[in-house]
Amino acid sequence: MAGYSDAPMRQLAAEQGALWTVSEMISARGLALGGENESLHLGRPYPGEVGRVVQLFGADPDILADATRKVGAWFAPAAIDLNMGCPVPKVRGKGGSCLLQTPETAYELVKAMKSATNLDVSAKIRLGWDSDRSVEIAQGLSEAGAAVITVHGRTAAQRYTGEADWHAIARVAASVPTPVIGSGDVLTPAQARQRRALGVAAVMIGRGAVGNPWIFQALASADPELADPEVADPEVADRVPDLPVRAAAALRHAELQHHFYTVPHRHRPGELKVASMRPLRKVLPKYLPELTELHPALTGVETIEDVRALLQPLTPEESVTMLAGHSRYAGSRS
Ligand SMILES: Cc1cc2nc3c(=O)[nH]c(=O)nc-3n(C[C@H](O)[C@H](O)[C@H](O)COP(=O)(O)O)c2cc1C
Repeated sequence: MAGYSDAPMRQLAAEQGALWTVSEMISARGLALGGENESLHLGRPYPGEVGRVVQLFGADPDILADATRKVGAWFAPAAIDLNMGCPVPKVRGKGGSCLLQTPETAYELVKAMKSATNLDVSAKIRLGWDSDRSVEIAQGLSEAGAAVITVHGRTAAQRYTGEADWHAIARVAASVPTPVIGSGDVLTPAQARQRRALGVAAVMIGRGAVGNPWIFQALASADPELADPEVADPEVADRVPDLPVRAAAALRHAELQHHFYTVPHRHRPGELKVASMRPLRKVLPKYLPELTELHPALTGVETIEDVRALLQPLTPEESVTMLAGHSRYAGSRS
C-alpha cells in the first residue's frame, strides 16, 4: 500500500505472523531509467526481511524487464508483482488499473518480467476498468505465467467506494489454476476466515492492518481458540490488545521507522540524515483510537523524541515484553 507498507510496517506485520508482505508500488521507469540504486527506500528490505514481494508499476515491457532485473539484484525479494489496480491519475497513464482496459498489454508485461527473472512473477488486478472482466483477465494472466493473481473486488471506476465483491473474487478463484488471493474490506480475523472459505488461496489485508498488526496474529496462531474457524470465538479472536500493548507497538513502529530511515547523508559525508516521523502522523492515532485527546499531538510529531515523549508514559515495561514476545493477546488472557 503506497504510503503505508514500507519496511517498518512490513516488519511489524511479519512479526505478528503475516505470511508474506508486499512493498509499496515502485515505478518501473524510475528504477530502469532514473538515478535509483539499491539504497531506494521503497525497495530496500528491512535487515533480515523474508517473504516480501516487491511491486512494480509500468506499461512498457522493456522497461519492466529492466526494472525486474534490478529489483531482483538489488532488493532480493521473494517474488515480483505487477500493479494492475492502482486508479490514481498519477499512475493511470503509466500502468496501474489502465492495464485493465488493455489486458493484452498486461499479458505481454508479465511475459517480459518473467523473461528477466527466475523469481515468481505475480499480478494484482481489480475486477475491471468499469465493469467486471476479472475472469477473462485472470485467465489471460494465468496463461502468461503469473504465479499468483491478487484480486481487489472493485472496479477501477469504483476506486474505494461501495463494497468489495467477494463473490466475483471467488468466481475468479474457481476459474483459473493459478492461486488467487482476495483483497478488499477485511477488517477482522473473523472476516478474513469467512472470505478465505470462499475458495481463495489467501486473503490480503490492507487498510485493516494500519495501526492493527495484530490482525495477522489470530490468523497465524496455532491456538485453536484464536485460529480454528470451528472453534474461534470472534469475541476472543477479534479482540485487540489492551492500550499499553498497543502504545508499545506504536512506539516500536516509530523506532523501526527511525532505524530504517536514518541513513548517511547523500551530500554531506560523515553526517546522518535523521528519519522524520511525519509519515507516521496518519498511522500513530490508529493504534490508539480511544485516546482522542492525544491525537493532535500524535499528528504533529516530527522526531523520534516527540513520539517517545508521548508514548513512553503509556507503555509499562511488561507491555513492551509482551510485544517482543509477538504472540500474546493482552485482552483475551485477562
Ligand atoms: C492508501 C492506499 C494505497 C494503496 N497502494 C497500493 C499499492 O501500492 N499497490 C497495490 O497493489 N494496491 C494498493 N492499494 C490497494 C490495497 O492493496 C487493497 O487492494 C485495497 O485497499 C482493498 O483492500 P483493503 O480494504 O484491505 O485495504 C492501496 C490502497 C490504499 C487505501
